[in-house]
Amino acid sequence: MSSQPRSVYVKVPASTANLGPGFDALGMALNLYAWIEMSVAQDRTTIQLYGDQMDGVPTDKSNLIYEVAQQVFRKAGVEHPELNISMYSDIPLTRGLGSSASAIVGALVAANALIGSPLSRDELFQMASDLEKHPDNVGASLFGGLIAAFWDGERAEHLRIEPEDRLEVLVAIPEFHLATEKARHVLPTTISMKDAVFNVGHVSLLVAALATGRYDMIRHAMKDALHQPYRAPLIPGMSDILDRAVEHGALGVALSGAGPTLLALVDAAATTPEGKAELERFLRDTLAREGIAATTLWLKPCGEGTQVLTHFDPLCTLIENIKGEVRA
Ligand code: HSE
Repeated sequence: MSSQPRSVYVKVPASTANLGPGFDALGMALNLYAWIEMSVAQDRTTIQLYGDQMDGVPTDKSNLIYEVAQQVFRKAGVEHPELNISMYSDIPLTRGLGSSASAIVGALVAANALIGSPLSRDELFQMASDLEKHPDNVGASLFGGLIAAFWDGERAEHLRIEPEDRLEVLVAIPEFHLATEKARHVLPTTISMKDAVFNVGHVSLLVAALATGRYDMIRHAMKDALHQPYRAPLIPGMSDILDRAVEHGALGVALSGAGPTLLALVDAAATTPEGKAELERFLRDTLAREGIAATTLWLKPCGEGTQVLTHFDPLCTLIENIKGEVRA
């Protein structure tokens, strides 16, 4: 049996879900991160949240990380009601970059590591999928890379595709927040056979294109009839970006998760710096014309999932340990 560390540290990647037609089924980890430190508290629970993305996040026992950690302890048959938790996140909240999935996955991995890792990664994936009710973001944050997955209400299954190094991701993150619940509420409860067939064909081609490196097919494949058309009215400028980003150099474009972030895939090996700048300008200007201020970021797919870090100095604070790694 492995010995129990006094304090554990985990690093969790952000994620983008759906990639257009893969609604609730495709996810990709991105090189934007959150870090969590967790230890058993001597007397009472303390929760410290760092970064400017944390406004309004509870710091009592209703905190998501605390609650998820307790689920791990219950499943493993141990009791640790009082915890010290610190978190720093570069992942913007409620923007469609998997911030809640990263908190859930980070809490699962940290709590499990704190008690000597009795639960397997698959058990953590099942718990995460059950909590999120879809496996796309949590699968990507947990395993890294590109994830194709389903959750049938009982079990989640997944396969991972290693992203190629030439794949780059441009995200345009609007300043406004969009709760996933709101973006799911606008979806219809039934769909036509025609739309179902449309998505089956497009998502199949997209997975095949990503798995085989046939990036020329992404422009045809990255189209959706199940969620994007219904969500577009929530994000002014989105339809224009979906229709025209390929003309401006994107391999394909989609709403990131439930939005409002928009995401363009780019072949770094085939795109000049001027080409990248033009695409970035197109996304920003299109949103700006609708009065939407947005931050653009160039990201890469992240090949690694959630890592338990062993090189951190337990005598330093979380912030001191991650200094130099964070974006802010
Ligand atoms: N697949 C989910 C959705 C991702 O599009 O609603 C957001 O959690």
